[in-house]
Amino acid sequence: MLNTQTKLSTQTTILQKSISVIFVWGMIVVLVLTSCWMKTTPIVKLHLQIPPIRSLVTFNSSTNALEMDYFPNDCPIPKMGLVGVFTTTKRDSEHRHVLLREHYRKINANLSIGLQFDIKFVYGDAKNWENEYELATNELLFPDDTIVLEQEENMDDGKTLQWFLYARDMMYEKHPTRETICPRYRFIGKTDEDTIIHLPRLSNILNKLPKNQSHYVGSELPLDVPFVVEKFNFQKSPNGSFMIGMLYLLTIDIVEWIKHSPIPLQHTKGYEDRMVGTWLREGNLSNTVNYAHQHGFHFREEITYAPHGRATPDSVAIHFCKTSIAFHRCLCDLYGSPTSTVKRILSAKSIEKHKAPLEKMFPQVKNVTLPDNIPITPESDVGLQLIAFLLKPVIAEVIPNYIRDPVSDADLMQILLHLAARVEVGENSWKYTPDDKVSTCIWRALAALGLRNSTRVWETKVADKLNETAQNKSLSWSE
Ligand SMILES: *[C@@H]1O[C@H](CO)[C@@H](O)[C@H](O)[C@H]1NC(C)=O
Ligand SMILES: *[C@@H]1O[C@H](CO)[C@@H](O)[C@H](O)[C@H]1NC(C)=O
Ligand SMILES: *[C@@H]1O[C@H](CO)[C@@H](O)[C@H](O)[C@H]1NC(C)=O
Ligand SMILES: *[C@@H]1O[C@H](CO)[C@@H](O)[C@H](O)[C@H]1NC(C)=O
Ligand SMILES: *[C@@H]1O[C@H](CO)[C@@H](O)[C@H](O)[C@H]1NC(C)=O
Ligand SMILES: *[C@@H]1O[C@H](CO)[C@@H](O)[C@H](O)[C@H]1NC(C)=O
Ligand SMILES: *[C@@H]1O[C@H](CO)[C@@H](O)[C@H](O)[C@H]1NC(C)=O
Ligand SMILES: *[C@@H]1O[C@H](CO)[C@@H](O)[C@H](O)[C@H]1NC(C)=O
Ligand SMILES: *[C@@H]1O[C@H](CO)[C@@H](O)[C@H](O)[C@H]1NC(C)=O
Repeated sequence: MLNTQTKLSTQTTILQKSISVIFVWGMIVVLVLTSCWMKTTPIVKLHLQIPPIRSLVTFNSSTNALEMDYFPNDCPIPKMGLVGVFTTTKRDSEHRHVLLREHYRKINANLSIGLQFDIKFVYGDAKNWENEYELATNELLFPDDTIVLEQEENMDDGKTLQWFLYARDMMYEKHPTRETICPRYRFIGKTDEDTIIHLPRLSNILNKLPKNQSHYVGSELPLDVPFVVEKFNFQKSPNGSFMIGMLYLLTIDIVEWIKHSPIPLQHTKGYEDRMVGTWLREGNLSNTVNYAHQHGFHFREEITYAPHGRATPDSVAIHFCKTSIAFHRCLCDLYGSPTSTVKRILSAKSIEKHKAPLEKMFPQVKNVTLPDNIPITPESDVGLQLIAFLLKPVIAEVIPNYIRDPVSDADLMQILLHLAARVEVGENSWKYTPDDKVSTCIWRALAALGLRNSTRVWETKVADKLNETAQNKSLSWSE
């Protein structure tokens, strides 16, 4: 009994061994055959590699222009862009970008494919133990849009170049049916987590740019303004046309060039967004690339050392939306204040909460009562308008001391909104414009009426001049 069993099991083992041997040899034959077949397939296959190994762009030194490889015209419609939101694991950055993720998801869902953006949150590599876990948690919970670059988190040490190299390898896909490559995007962009973008407006302006040209889209620093030069220490290398880091986008041919040209690697360190301008200039591309300047990319109105202004229906992206109040303001200035927001901000309790900090500067606000139906414009931020209405009686009373001509209601509203943008309601929103004298604020408001490019220095200078001219009496509009 025992013997038979042993024999049987021995036979089974022999059988199994034979099968294994046949299987292994079979596999080897298959592998050899496959590799022979692979070797004989045409080299064209290399093109199919995603990301492509060779450069798909050439620099034509007689025209100084980039020439991108031809893509088949039956490719699927590419998305409008891939945008990297540069962020860090600092608490308030994380908070803002979690809000942005949800916001952009909703907005994108309402756009047709060709107008959509893929938004990725881009971190530098971990700096310490705790940081590894913060990054790991983001990768765990948001694997689709978390990107951790290889280099440690830094401001001016090459993160921009790394992002464009990373993005380059994401910007192609295989043709759905044929053996060739298609572009996934038309533009690759970089932005910050304290910038809010109106995606449909961005799509709209990008869509209007001619498709047969290379574009560098963004907003330039006014390098001729002394305050800017001083703040950013740019006078040391004056040739500085570049788009500021709040948001800029490049056509994919430029990104392809960045990947393969030796020039970007020679210029990686320095004020990071400036580098892109340097690359294009050093690559002799700055005369053929279209620098598409956008007035619609600007800082919040009160941040007057950079292109700034009150949001208008032409605003596409607003920067420096750092505090909770500023973030909300940027969002609603771009997308409008929905009914729920209007209801909350204009509730009796909320109005009382707005009054408290205002009273520090304007004690009379305590006694201001608002009508039941404040004429709110829902297309922009309701909070700013509320502050303006709370200040209205107070300022309207003193305005004749400044301007002796009649001030129309519309002009008064402009002055009030300008003041409202500069009033301290959050912890930090005042520190960038530390005006303490109400009269300077009012003069500044008058100075900056209708201007988009005023700087704080300039506004204050004009305000002083106005005050001086006034010499305790009011001015006429012409004065
Ligand atoms: C460069 O551009 C010129 C003018 O368009 C063209 O004639 C020439 O063939 C181009 N050179 C290359 C290498 O493509
Ligand atoms: C979606 O787009 C339509 C018009 O294209 C607009 O009327 C609607 O408000 C949008 N919805 C959202 C949630 O943005
Ligand atoms: C792009 O195409 C337009 C017409 O379609 C033409 O007028 C223009 O010269 C072209 N630009 C370049 C840079 O090829
Ligand atoms: C600035 O540009 C001019 C003209 O292109 C050039 O002669 C000069 O050397 C440049 N200066 C710097 C600092 O790059
Ligand atoms: C740019 O142009 C200059 C002058 O024509 C030339 O000396 C230089 O080699 C060019 N650089 C590149 C990267 O083509
Ligand atoms: C508010 O009104 C009361 C009563 O009219 C008055 O006594 C008080 O001085 C006013 N306060 C301010 C700050 O104007
Ligand atoms: C703002 O722009 C206008 C017109 O472009 C110009 O005349 C003015 O000098 C600029 N002001 C400042 C402060 O840059
Ligand atoms: C305005 O000018 C007056 C003198 O005319 C001066 O006393 C006052 O401090 C000035 N105000 C500001 C805010 O500069
Ligand atoms: C302006 O008014 C203040 C107080 O009302 C006074 O002290 C000052 O002398 C006046 N200045 C001029 C230039 O009239």
